Amino acid sequence: MNTFKALPPGSTIGIIGNGQLGRMTALAAARLGYMCHVFGPEKDSPAEQVALKATVADYTDQDALIAFANSVDVVTFEFENIPHESVQLLMKHVDVRPGWNCLHISQDRLIEKNFINSCDIETAPYQEVNSLDDLELAVKNLGRPSILKTTRMGYDGKGQALIRPETDITEAYATMANAPSVLEGFVDFQREISVIVARSVCGEWTAFEPAENKHVDGILDTSTVPANIPDGLIEEAVNIAVKLAEKMELIGLLAVEIFHTKDDRLIVNEMAPRPHNSGHWTQDACYSDQYEQFVRAVCGLPLGSVERRNDLVMKNLIGFDVEKWPDYLNEPNAKLHLYGKASTRRGRKMGHVNLVYPLGELPKEA
Ligand SMILES: Nc1ncnc2c1ncn2[C@@H]1O[C@H](COP(=O)(O)OP(=O)(O)O)[C@@H](O)[C@H]1O
Ligand SMILES: [Mg+2]
Repeated sequence: MNTFKALPPGSTIGIIGNGQLGRMTALAAARLGYMCHVFGPEKDSPAEQVALKATVADYTDQDALIAFANSVDVVTFEFENIPHESVQLLMKHVDVRPGWNCLHISQDRLIEKNFINSCDIETAPYQEVNSLDDLELAVKNLGRPSILKTTRMGYDGKGQALIRPETDITEAYATMANAPSVLEGFVDFQREISVIVARSVCGEWTAFEPAENKHVDGILDTSTVPANIPDGLIEEAVNIAVKLAEKMELIGLLAVEIFHTKDDRLIVNEMAPRPHNSGHWTQDACYSDQYEQFVRAVCGLPLGSVERRNDLVMKNLIGFDVEKWPDYLNEPNAKLHLYGKASTRRGRKMGHVNLVYPLGELPKEA
């Protein structure tokens, strides 16, 4: 099915996945008068707390998927790693935005990199690894350091092994537990940036300006706007994101993670067809934030303004960082966003805080 009429407020958006991205999407949807029905395997989820309806079921539960599809007006995703067959099943019953193709590409690092290169956009050099022999050959070709990653289901640096000069290849391979993998050449980047582009049902697009991202232990720690990159690269980064969104005929949001190399090249790391942690800054800096753009795109509405009104540092509250929440409430420029997770665990994303500064007044250390 592919209908092009706008869904009026009062319609119900089905969201696959029920984490914090689903929660913030549901909040944005509510502001525009939509209901949300969220679907995911976890009970007492962040999204469920703010949605009209929640189905707690596995992503392979066909009966639950059909009932869900029949209860909503459109389906989207806050989590892209759901089986193909489940997406195909949903598509038989309801409009699914973004489409199957976008999920298929971004679920698998190998398919994703092949696709990016087919758009004449650079990635790190890479080689498929399905055996210890493959890995030995790939390390010979790509050198050390290099990074071994499972092709599927990786997030927050999980499913990755850094191959250092001294690393034992057999041991590194064993940590992948025979999962299909890809070896990537190490990019000695200056900085990491990301661009989030929204594309509407009729092909209109808007892109938030690039944010500069810092990771700690493989997990995003801060995103800062403006990114400290030359003007020409801002435009180039946006062009890359738009080209990828157009080539995959995306309806919704696409977040593109990019390395800015020491010689001022842009190399795409990975992408996600949904709201992204590195876009949380938009909530307190843009008239229409990433979640609102997402809802607008998925519902067939025109896109909003992505103009930035402030400089901003988004700080993730990971694990026990969240215990500082009362302090942030006393900071006049801090906007606190908590996800309602019942238990705090090391490495778990519990919330974030947006530190807002007047334009041009970002602190030097940020
Ligand atoms: N080829 C690479 N060269 C250098 N650093 C890398 C490379 N791949 C990943 N990294 C670092 O590891 C982080 C997490 O890797 P990424 O591929 O984005 O996986 P995830 O899906 O866990 O976010 C990146 O943001 C970057 O800091
Ligand atoms: Mg990443």
